[in-house]
Amino acid sequence: MRRWFLVPLLLLTTARAQPVAPAAPRAAESFAHVYERFAVAADHPAASEAGAEILAAGGNAADAAAATLLALGVASPASSGLGGGGFLLYYRASDRSVTFLDFREAAPAAATPEMFVDRPPPFPGRANAASQVGGLASGVPGEPAGIEAMVERFGSGMPLGRIAAPAIRLAEEGSPVSAAVARMSTYFGDQMRRDPVMRTWFEGEGPLREGQLLRQPALARTLRAFAARGARAIYTGPIAREIVRANRAAGGIFTLEDLASYRVVERPALSAEHFGHRWLTAPPPSAGGYTLLQSLAVLEAIPAPWRPVTRGEAPSAAFLHALTESWKGPYLDRERYFGDPSHVALPLDAMLDPTRARARAASFHPALAMPPEDFDLPLAAPANPGPGEENGTSHFCVVDAEGNVAAVTTTVNLPFGARYTAAGMVMNDEMDDFAREVGVANAFGLIGGAPNLPGPGKRPVSTMTPTIVLDGEGRPVLVVGAAGGSRIVTATQQVAMNVILFGMSGGDAMAAPRIHHQARPNELRSERDAPLAPEILEALRQRGHALETVDHLATAQAIAIVHGPEGARLQAACDPRKGGRPAGR
Ligand code: GLY
Repeated sequence: MRRWFLVPLLLLTTARAQPVAPAAPRAAESFAHVYERFAVAADHPAASEAGAEILAAGGNAADAAAATLLALGVASPASSGLGGGGFLLYYRASDRSVTFLDFREAAPAAATPEMFVDRPPPFPGRANAASQVGGLASGVPGEPAGIEAMVERFGSGMPLGRIAAPAIRLAEEGSPVSAAVARMSTYFGDQMRRDPVMRTWFEGEGPLREGQLLRQPALARTLRAFAARGARAIYTGPIAREIVRANRAAGGIFTLEDLASYRVVERPALSAEHFGHRWLTAPPPSAGGYTLLQSLAVLEAIPAPWRPVTRGEAPSAAFLHALTESWKGPYLDRERYFGDPSHVALPLDAMLDPTRARARAASFHPALAMPPEDFDLPLAAPANPGPGEENGTSHFCVVDAEGNVAAVTTTVNLPFGARYTAAGMVMNDEMDDFAREVGVANAFGLIGGAPNLPGPGKRPVSTMTPTIVLDGEGRPVLVVGAAGGSRIVTATQQVAMNVILFGMSGGDAMAAPRIHHQARPNELRSERDAPLAPEILEALRQRGHALETVDHLATAQAIAIVHGPEGARLQAACDPRKGGRPAGR
């Protein structure tokens, strides 16, 4: 007998319009602001300001995205930088086109599926796997090629030297350490101090100090080379040789050829209609976009009681329950099917078939949390037999005065990446997003599947979910995304649904409490610092969810675009959980 037959009927009547509990603590300076012409929302104020400076100087959203990325890498080296990689989702207003650029890190040519089996980390510390620390943990960086591509493909013609100027200034004159960067250094300081560049950042025995000025002369030199000669200054010549040397000194297997052969890949964005809007989001190798679309499809197929009745209504326990159940199936799909689509066959059409979402919705019970396996729907012909709480990721959004929109998620994976530098760049540990071994969890608790084993040139599965939502007239109404490992997509979706379904402003949508469930472990997480109302938590507990409270789930950024007779107003919101601040006019 199915468990839910035992459910007391009274749970079906659980209140559905509870007020939202106190939101996440708001930063001293406002994390949300409304602009009329252009806006940038990044998780470090200096990065938002760098993008806004370029927009004010006549650049467009692509130029500003490049400037913001470069400045983030300087001001927030725990979460991004030229030694990492990312995704761009770009909406061009002039022809209403949408482009997705994949500049994620790629495994070096000598990578093998077994490279992490029984391999100890090269040095001890809190990150304690060879896929998380040291040279083997790094993929070939994609960020320099990605920045160059976004400027060449979509930029206004503004020279790279001008676009890079704010970042170079920050590296040479210093940028103040944010509370988030200081906090992340408390966990990984021992490993960071082994590196000759990162060692100089510390003033004493303790962690980095919030507000201390971080000067990065080696990174400034690399940025100047990039500004003058573009990505080839990083992938060839003396900087490339330094990257290979540093990677090998840290136990890695990079070659000059790995760097010289790195390419940005353009992929078709995922696109689907849900709730009267078109959702444009990240394709594989991200599993985030698929998880988002599958969850929305399942929710649409679940009968009404979870839906808001009035705009501005707070998410109810019934909604949070339906949302949680909608995530369980796609997270299991991720484990079984996802890998780099350039290397493994991904049955994406079959996975997104509407009958599958309806079958998942049929397993839903409004008053009981079902085991994740009840939402597991293996496809008839399984593809890919093989071989194949803080985080080091950052998302930002840009909207310019012409209506161009950029959603960028960038990453070095764990805070301060693999905890070594090359030519001043913090090198990523993105190899931990591969399956170290089939069935073994990565740092975010995601269980590795065979299609996601490492291999030469492969890109690891990601959760990064840069997303743009269009209204019924095809106008962008929201740009959103998040950082936070496995929690990226669930945070992105909740902020988006708060705006699109619940009618919240960008700021309220951002500050509202969030939850997370990733099928395995079978637990529903909520945030200590942005608590749900006790009666909502109790209603979820009564449905049988195993509740866990954690300090931090994910960090989102969004710009809601409200169209009116006078033009568009841009509600830019940075997540108060990380201390970002938007900039614009
Ligand atoms: N490194 C985080 C992600 O790509 O999902």
